[in-house]
Amino acid sequence: MDMTPFHPPQRTLMGPGPSDVSPRVLAAMAQPTIGHLDPEFVAFMDRLKALLQSAFRTTNPLTMPVSGPGTAGMEAAFVNLVEPGDTVIVCRNGVFGERMRENVVRSGGIAVTVDDRWGEPVDAAKLERALAEHPEAKLVAFVHAETSTGACSDAATLVDLAHRHDCLVILDAVTSLGGIPVAIDAWGVDAAYSGSQKCLSCVPGLSPVTFGPRAVERIKARSTPVQSWFLDTTLVMGYWGSGQKRSYHHTAPINALYALHEALVILHEEGIENAWTRHHRHHLALAAGLEAIGLQLAVAEPARLPQLNAVRVPDGIDETAVRRHLLQHWSLEIGAGMGDLAGKIWRIGLMGASSTPRHVMLCLAALADALAAQGRPSDATAALEAARQKL
Ligand SMILES: Cc1ncc(COP(=O)(O)O)c(C=O)c1O
Repeated sequence: MDMTPFHPPQRTLMGPGPSDVSPRVLAAMAQPTIGHLDPEFVAFMDRLKALLQSAFRTTNPLTMPVSGPGTAGMEAAFVNLVEPGDTVIVCRNGVFGERMRENVVRSGGIAVTVDDRWGEPVDAAKLERALAEHPEAKLVAFVHAETSTGACSDAATLVDLAHRHDCLVILDAVTSLGGIPVAIDAWGVDAAYSGSQKCLSCVPGLSPVTFGPRAVERIKARSTPVQSWFLDTTLVMGYWGSGQKRSYHHTAPINALYALHEALVILHEEGIENAWTRHHRHHLALAAGLEAIGLQLAVAEPARLPQLNAVRVPDGIDETAVRRHLLQHWSLEIGAGMGDLAGKIWRIGLMGASSTPRHVMLCLAALADALAAQGRPSDATAALEAARQKL
């Protein structure tokens, strides 16, 4: 057993998350740990909350980072809003829609699924049919940016449909927040959660969540206690709530919260609209370069996520060997396909700090090299030039 200090290699992270973390964020994390009830820390929490509200485009007072990864934010949304016997319509077009369904069942709810093919967005017409067939439904849940497939769904339309049928909405914004528009208040989303390690480019392990007024009302009107003590928002708010004395709930991950704060400050400095534009521009550059190499994107154009590019593995190419080559020779990480798409796609992330011209160029050059190593040469110079035209 090696008991010496661990020194991770310097990688370029272009998978489905984590994305590259800015040195500013890492430095913020190395600041002195103070107590989670220190008056300085309590004041800092309000600043962090305001930055989160700004990123989510909401004024919801119940907005905070859950001390846990995106999955914890997901679980927080479901355990608080689903009561035993509730019918919940879950749109499922990838791995994370299925995870939502499991959360419904584990919360004692009855899940009705609206299925779409992996790589396609949620079909609003199918959701509308399910809503009409299930007037007893109380909630609709869907993934805005399906990281497992690279497809983006039309959140505003889906939220509107759900509301017209008196359902509240849970939105998974893990991969969307910071990369594409997320407008919690304008869309009327009732509950949403995200993750720190995607387009926010923070260290993994935190999940920003926000609950709107209708969701809060529903939580207050529950006839059964929230099954999870840790994720019960009514208890967590004793710590994260404002205008009241903060009391101990759990020991907050102080230094990770410094990191999230710094990541949100960086986003604020850039301007979130500029961040969306940047993600879009680099996606177009990557797509042009990939095409020049002879690689195809797996998602049809209107639904493509700029921050998560699903690329078809060409026939005769060993997809694992390509990823291994990128890691060994370029210290570059891209993602593999998951579930039904395992072995069929690569997932190239251009998220947050990993969405720069350098990342686009590096990835194209490295991919051309990896493919050439498998006897499939391509014109890397042409790919770089095609990308450059879009930058
Ligand atoms: C859309 C989506 N939802 C939920 C999650 C779960 O987040 P985490 O891995 O941080 O628990 C992920 C992670 O990739 C995701 O992409």
